[in-house]
Amino acid sequence: MKYPNYYLSFLLTLCLSCPHSLLLAQNFPYKAVNLGNWLVSEGWMLPSLFEGIINKDLLDGTQVQLQSTKFQKYLSAEGGGGNIIVANRSSASGWETFRLWRVDESSFNFRVFNKDFVGIDNQGGGNNIVAIANSPSNQETFQIIRNNEDPLKIRIKASNGLFLQAKTETLVTADYQGTSWEESDPSVFNMNIVRTLQGEYQLTNGYGPDKAPQVLRDHWSSYITEDDFKFMSQNGLNAVRIPIGWWMAQDPNPPKPFVGGSSEALDNAFTWAQNHNMKVIVDLHAVEGSQNGNDHSGARDGYVEWGDSFIRQTVSVIEFIAKRYGNRPSLGGIELMNEPQGVNLDSLKKYYKEAYNVVRKYNPNAYVIMSNPLDADSKVLLSFVSGFDKIVLDVHYYNLFSDTFNGMSVQQNIDYITSERAPDLSGVSSTNALSFVGEWTGEWSIQGASMQDYQRYAQAQLDVYSRATFGWAYWAYKCRNNHWSLKWMIENGYIKL
Ligand SMILES: *[C@@H]1O[C@H](CO)[C@@H](O)[C@H](O)[C@H]1NC(C)=O
Repeated sequence: MKYPNYYLSFLLTLCLSCPHSLLLAQNFPYKAVNLGNWLVSEGWMLPSLFEGIINKDLLDGTQVQLQSTKFQKYLSAEGGGGNIIVANRSSASGWETFRLWRVDESSFNFRVFNKDFVGIDNQGGGNNIVAIANSPSNQETFQIIRNNEDPLKIRIKASNGLFLQAKTETLVTADYQGTSWEESDPSVFNMNIVRTLQGEYQLTNGYGPDKAPQVLRDHWSSYITEDDFKFMSQNGLNAVRIPIGWWMAQDPNPPKPFVGGSSEALDNAFTWAQNHNMKVIVDLHAVEGSQNGNDHSGARDGYVEWGDSFIRQTVSVIEFIAKRYGNRPSLGGIELMNEPQGVNLDSLKKYYKEAYNVVRKYNPNAYVIMSNPLDADSKVLLSFVSGFDKIVLDVHYYNLFSDTFNGMSVQQNIDYITSERAPDLSGVSSTNALSFVGEWTGEWSIQGASMQDYQRYAQAQLDVYSRATFGWAYWAYKCRNNHWSLKWMIENGYIKL
């Protein structure tokens, strides 16, 4: 469309005289979409990315329970760790669950409930199996040899070349030489996989240093391209929220197993956004130490370890972002940490303050986004943020992941948006901070809903989330599950912006 010049200058005068001129210049409120599973992978969104991994069911963080076939009892870290391993439990829960750390495709460490590692106790030259090491070394490394039957049976070879055996119910040793798969063999264990993780750590360490770089670079260059920005801008979106991982700040050589080069992909996104008149919200989604234990936090084994001791390096990741992108015209905001959950609130506030200050070193006006902790009320940061300028509070709304939504009807889901989400959001908006629904989706717990049901539910959410003063961002742009993909929802007429 082409306007005559006088019309443009009229518009400009209008803008300058209007108190919201800054807001107009920023395209507020944003209609955005999350480029999830691009620079931080999540297996459920694209399982095929994990297909080429050998032993792909034994990735980092896989939780296993091991039952001695001879005694029909589970191995247990006595006391949860810091003690011997026994084989006397008839049922399994926390102390009987071991988290794998993958050393290579067949070698693993086993981390127990209190975070110690299983290993050979060499005190007195013995071969007893204990869980006392704080970090794994050769003595804590075991080979898993599997007999691919159902139920899955394994034998475990220790670093001394001998197999683990349940000698008695209270004595587990690494000194067995037999090789049978008989139920009566004390070195045979049933292995139940009770939980898996599929994130960036699992993907990169699963492929290993020889294959991971190519797999990741192919994914980055094909999953999102400039055509996607064209599609987004043509369909009414004016921003993207891009999840990134902490390892980006150490490009081109991030610590193992992460792969270098994700900052170049982000550079491209900034260029494409600018070409199509869109903004980029950079979202530090995976934080060193893990801030929520989820696949998408870059966690190795699901333990949440982020805290005071990680503040310094997490601030330096924000500094990397602020320095590299702080003055790009298409920067929409910098989000300091996605979805903290199970972290200390004082540590979080301390980090937010330092990270805010480091952004201000590079840009006095960039919007700084603080994610509300998932395990706290959405008002928990309201008084804290009053001390800052150009601040956004991010809340995520899913009618999922909680028993609250089980068995809700279509109408009840829709009513929940108007009766619960709307007042919650207006509470967040009522401060000096702007409000942002940084994640929501058209999916819910209802199975087999009609297209019209999905349309009504999406529209109800759009109506309410459009009141967020900074805007909203759908999760996600692409996903194997159609209703999680805004691209699919738009192309198939479920959502119109
Ligand atoms: C298992 O063996 C340990 C060590 O002897 C003992 O302390 C514990 O009470 C036993 N537990 C059961 C359930 O037998």
